[in-house]
Amino acid sequence: VVAVMRAGIERGTTPGGDPGAQAALCRDMAVPPAPAFLPQLVERTRFFDASVTTALALGFAQIVILGAGYDDRALRFRSPGVRYFEVDQPATQSDKAARLDALDPGDTGPELVPADFRTDDVAAALARAGHDRWKASLFVCEGLLVYLEAETIVMLLAQLKASAGDDSVLAASLAVHPDGVDSARAVAWANGRRRSGQTEPWRTILSRAGHAELLAASGWSIRDGSAAPWPTGREAGSSWLVTAEPIAGHPPPA
Ligand SMILES: C[S@@+](CC[C@H](N)C(=O)[O-])C[C@H]1O[C@@H](n2cnc3c(N)ncnc32)[C@H](O)[C@@H]1O
Repeated sequence: VVAVMRAGIERGTTPGGDPGAQAALCRDMAVPPAPAFLPQLVERTRFFDASVTTALALGFAQIVILGAGYDDRALRFRSPGVRYFEVDQPATQSDKAARLDALDPGDTGPELVPADFRTDDVAAALARAGHDRWKASLFVCEGLLVYLEAETIVMLLAQLKASAGDDSVLAASLAVHPDGVDSARAVAWANGRRRSGQTEPWRTILSRAGHAELLAASGWSIRDGSAAPWPTGREAGSSWLVTAEPIAGHPPPA
């Protein structure tokens, strides 16, 4: 649903990028519309597009998209010398791979890295795919972390921290509730209002402070919203759009 809706949003592209990539990847997808979600998705799309274009402008050569689904940024923001890695569950990836093949991106397509964040070592999977942990990377978690249990989020983000060369950045959307609300009740309430609350439940909705604690436990510190040039701290409905940087010296030596 997100990818199909994103295909209708006006967006930028790089000089060598494919402005029609999102529509092409979603070819033949029939999904129920969700117009109420559109303003939030527009804001979210702008945030992650800006995160990628900022990374490109700063000379990053590695963009890693976690839970990529039908994300088109590897094609839309294609740039010479820049490698995109997309990590997702094998079942989702095999359908994405077929759709990518039909677009024939040749050598310029993303590196597909199959992994289940609940069980797999993402740092090792990325390394096998040719990701260089000593170089700066932008790690993108769009619409993903809400689907994972808190312990899986900590495990995943700690593995990203272990793969993060100097100056790396994490861009993430985080599902938030107001302070003073019980997080388990917020999750139950939110799933009760969703079409797919039973089949694909949301699992982690926290206060802003709760998310900041979770990120800190994984070695990431949320950037101050005024810290140029990265966009951070923006709101999109109940999503908090943040960028974070690796905490130096985390984890402490054993
Ligand atoms: C709501 S979609 C978001 C897709 C994309 N980031 C976007 O915003 O269009 C969530 C994605 O996370 C992936 N995902 C969920 N749980 C996962 C897990 N345990 N391991 C790997 N990927 C997972 C799903 O396969 C799906 O592609």
